[in-house]
Amino acid sequence: MGDETGARGAEAGPFRGETKKHKSVMKLPQVPVRIVAVQANAIFGERHMVKPANMLKIVPAVAVIATLGATLAFAGAIEDRQAGMKQVGKAMGAFAGIAKGEAPYDAAVVKTNADSMREAWKKAFANFTAGSEKGPPETYAKAEIWSDPEGFKAAEDAAFKALDALAATSDEAGFKTALGGLGEACKGCHTKFRRPKD
Ligand code: HEC
Repeated sequence: MGDETGARGAEAGPFRGETKKHKSVMKLPQVPVRIVAVQANAIFGERHMVKPANMLKIVPAVAVIATLGATLAFAGAIEDRQAGMKQVGKAMGAFAGIAKGEAPYDAAVVKTNADSMREAWKKAFANFTAGSEKGPPETYAKAEIWSDPEGFKAAEDAAFKALDALAATSDEAGFKTALGGLGEACKGCHTKFRRPKD
């Protein structure tokens, strides 16, 4: 029962494991995109010369292409939000390092990582689009994101607020306290809106 969103968990491993696991999955859809484009062109380009009997073969092919196209569009949103969240995890790791004394407290470093986290969240939150509820690639987003948009928005707002509070600190003690608040914000959202990975 790890506190994977807390300062300790961010550094301890789950994020690293997730990063590896997803890298190969994320590359997969990029090859079919090009192949699909070529096939689509070939089929639509020749359509006017096709005899009715041959249409039977073409219709299923077009259906397959349409399905693939839809899947790929959603894959982009899932990949983009997961990549954004990975960047969030990276910044969290930097914060955790400071909190643990592995790196010196430096207000400028805190601010740089806070900016990175803010941008990464904007990117991630913009990609929970309608139709991207299901992969591939595998997504851990819960259906509640789409059935309870107000609740999800509230979790986003709480996260930005906690991050702003962290970025505004100017000494180590204040930083550590605010980091606890930020960890709670991650956990609050993940508990409600994200399936655990295992
Ligand atoms: C408002 C909701 C929300 C907040 C706040 C939030 N997350 Fe997430 N996070 C998600 C959701 C949803 C996913 C699953 C995305 C998916 O699989 O499509 C996720 C996924 C992740 C992942 C896995 C990315 C991957 O490789 O697939 C990491 C790492 C992560 N979050 C870190 C954090 C950290 C660290 C914080 C706090 C500093 C945080 N998140 C705050 C909603 C949130």
